Amino acid sequence: MTRRILIAGNWKMNTRSADAASLAKGIVDAVGKSPAVEIALCPPSVYLASVSEVTAGTPVELGAQNLYAADDGAFTGEVNAAMLTDVGCQFVILGHSERRQLMGETDACVSKKLHAALAGNLIPIVCVGETLEQRETNETEAVIESQIRGSLEGLDEARAAGIVIAYEPVWAIGTGKVASKEQAEAVHAFIRDLLGKMFTPGVAEQIRIQYGGSVKPGNAAELLSQPNIDGALVGGASLKVEDFVGIITAAPAS
Ligand code: PGA
Repeated sequence: MTRRILIAGNWKMNTRSADAASLAKGIVDAVGKSPAVEIALCPPSVYLASVSEVTAGTPVELGAQNLYAADDGAFTGEVNAAMLTDVGCQFVILGHSERRQLMGETDACVSKKLHAALAGNLIPIVCVGETLEQRETNETEAVIESQIRGSLEGLDEARAAGIVIAYEPVWAIGTGKVASKEQAEAVHAFIRDLLGKMFTPGVAEQIRIQYGGSVKPGNAAELLSQPNIDGALVGGASLKVEDFVGIITAAPAS
């Protein structure tokens, strides 16, 4: 089973319109017509449409950082799946640890969003990860298992193969402290085994599991060559063309 490596840039709440467009253009130009891996850019929602104009017709795809799980209606300030596909998104990041910590998103809320994303033909990138304290008290596997079971609640086997999981240890996000390839691979293997029990081993083999947390051009190759690491969700290093492209080119072809 070959899973295509997916490198996604999570721009978080950064850029202005001019630099969003030039960052996207720099990446599109650098990766060319047939990159060896799948690539997605996830700008702030206000810039999705303008970045989409740059990525349209290129192999670089587009993702949002969040959605609201409802059809059109009285939900001031929110954006739904239909709006995201309308501006050209293929992906949506769900349950990022910053949203879990700062906006109080729970697994139940992530699961609602997951179903809304799939119903709206978006590929969800579901984020999970333990805090430093949880790692130090040996709770990593229990935390990851409950986040995955809760966030994927109600997901059927037929749809499960198409989702993406991002394992992002909270202690490695934006800190410069990257998980070692052994630490990351151990959790990825644990996640795949868990997905095998929740669905089937065959389905689990198809689900891509990205690593996220201080991925840089210098550590990408060793992380991405691990058997169960199928891509990267990149924050800080996705804001510079050179760094993001460095991560893309460090990835083994898939
Ligand atoms: P980072 O962020 O690469 O800046 O650590 C990753 C993420 O939060 O998705």
